[in-house]
Amino acid sequence: MPAVRGKNIEVLFPAEAIASRNLELASQIASRGLEGLLVVSVLKGSFIFAADLIRAMHGAGLAPEIEFILVSSYGAGTTSGEVKVLRDIDASVAGRDVLVIDDILESGKTLKFTRDLILGRGARSVRIAVLLDKRGRRQIELEADFVGFECPDRFVVGYGMDAGHFFRELPFVGVIEEDAG
Ligand code: IMP
Ligand code: MG
Repeated sequence: MPAVRGKNIEVLFPAEAIASRNLELASQIASRGLEGLLVVSVLKGSFIFAADLIRAMHGAGLAPEIEFILVSSYGAGTTSGEVKVLRDIDASVAGRDVLVIDDILESGKTLKFTRDLILGRGARSVRIAVLLDKRGRRQIELEADFVGFECPDRFVVGYGMDAGHFFRELPFVGVIEEDAG
């Protein structure tokens, strides 16, 4: 079990499993025949997943334009949680097919907000790809179009995802173990 910052990390999704799942997701995405695709990576948590997925998409024959949006949710996990754009995309989305990439779909608030924002600007279609789906924690009815893995209801880190701004660099997804005492 790897130790990082003095904590043991239980690996849930190893790097190799993520890499081969990304290839499958990329060919699913390519099979939809999306033209002039615009990818919107939701920062910060999706940056590694997006970086790997777009390279897998290249291998599947896609040549998307890439944008980034930084959103933050306040009171995540509560029904009053609201989402704000902290750094917007630059590209116009009008008439375009858009693929929003995020790390985890949990309550659904972040991705519903992001999808509605892009649809409201006149996108032709908005599809959603997430590495992990925490289905058990959904508060808003929302399904991703492309899901890497179903995720147990545990707080995960690594592969872009953080706990207190650390652990994003881990090449796998795992759970921080409690101190042995
Ligand atoms: P929601 O779907 O709006 O509830 O929010 C999902 C967002 O919360 C994700 O994009 C992550 O940034 C964050 N998040 C949810 N669960 C976890 C976790 O287990 N580890 C790290 N970040 C998480
Ligand atoms: Mg996020």
